[in-house]
Amino acid sequence: MSNITPQPGIMDITLYQGGVAHLPGIANAVKLSSNENPFGPSDTAKEAFRKASYHLHRYPSSDHAELRAAIGEVHGLDPERILCGSGSDEIIAFICQAYAGPGDEVIHTEHGFGMYRISALANGATPVEVPERERVTDVDAILAACTDATKLVFIANPNNPTGTMIGEGEVARLAAGLPDHVLLVLDGAYAEYVDGYDGGAALVEARQNVVMTRTFSKLYGLGGLRIGWAYGPDHVIAVLSRVRGPFNLSAAALAAAEAAVRDTAWAEKCRLDNARWRHWLAEALSEHGVQSDTSLGNFILARFASQAEAEACDEHLKSEGLIVRRVAGYNLPNCLRITVGDEASCRRVAHAVGQFMATAR
Ligand SMILES: Cc1ncc(COP(=O)(O)O)c(C=O)c1O
Repeated sequence: MSNITPQPGIMDITLYQGGVAHLPGIANAVKLSSNENPFGPSDTAKEAFRKASYHLHRYPSSDHAELRAAIGEVHGLDPERILCGSGSDEIIAFICQAYAGPGDEVIHTEHGFGMYRISALANGATPVEVPERERVTDVDAILAACTDATKLVFIANPNNPTGTMIGEGEVARLAAGLPDHVLLVLDGAYAEYVDGYDGGAALVEARQNVVMTRTFSKLYGLGGLRIGWAYGPDHVIAVLSRVRGPFNLSAAALAAAEAAVRDTAWAEKCRLDNARWRHWLAEALSEHGVQSDTSLGNFILARFASQAEAEACDEHLKSEGLIVRRVAGYNLPNCLRITVGDEASCRRVAHAVGQFMATAR
């Protein structure tokens, strides 16, 4: 027995389940479980990473000035209001650490990304789950759930694992309708996949109560290096800068991310490819009787008749060397989330779902 105890809330955290990466006994399994870019990062990002290997004895930049300048240039944003984190997960953690503690409430939606709840609990705050409307963020339900104790509202737009998003007018209505002590966090992990969408940057500029988070893990294919960023009002960046460790990003990650964001041609190629095969895959699944909402991310949430059917399909996919994601932990037990891979993976997964459905019902 020990009297050593953690802070309240910590042991309420259900451990995050990452996407399975390997199948025992299958050498060339296709991983479609973590919403990664099947093509990886651009060649210029890989070259920048390689060059950084010659300077590994040096500490990295602590102000991330060059990466912030590059992001600012490419996205037309003020670099002074950008803050970089080791993945957007770390930024979510900073935001909770800085703004939410015991007695405070942190709102996330019914099928919202799991790290909101984890980070709230890690800081002793109370996560509050708000219903969605048919797997879409419900602004009125969020506004109705706000109390004097609410400190943060997290929405991902597009959301993971649903793939749905709400329009800019709805996001603006949410920001305007929140009590003035509440900060709205717009998680734009999949924003780059939406043609012409700024992830909420204009709303950040127009208001004092909105912060946007972004990542290099999805469209830019750099999940393994852990780079995310936030864009917020001065007062929020001033706060987050105080909880950020000085060397939270490695030199190699900074160099690769800077090259990646500047390689707009590669990003556009990946965006178009994703849109094309996402559409193809959704249609192919639908022809096999598996429906999905229109996804705006790099994945599809396939809906089955029951949890048993979803799990049986997952088992069949595994037997065919295809790894997708079960999402029962996101209150979606009858669904499987399938990352949009390259053409060959999309064709394989559609074929295997078709095989399964031919015998399932
Ligand atoms: C909605 C959402 N936000 C944030 C993240 C975290 O991404 P990262 O920490 O790799 O930037 C993810 C990753 O899956 C996500 O789906």
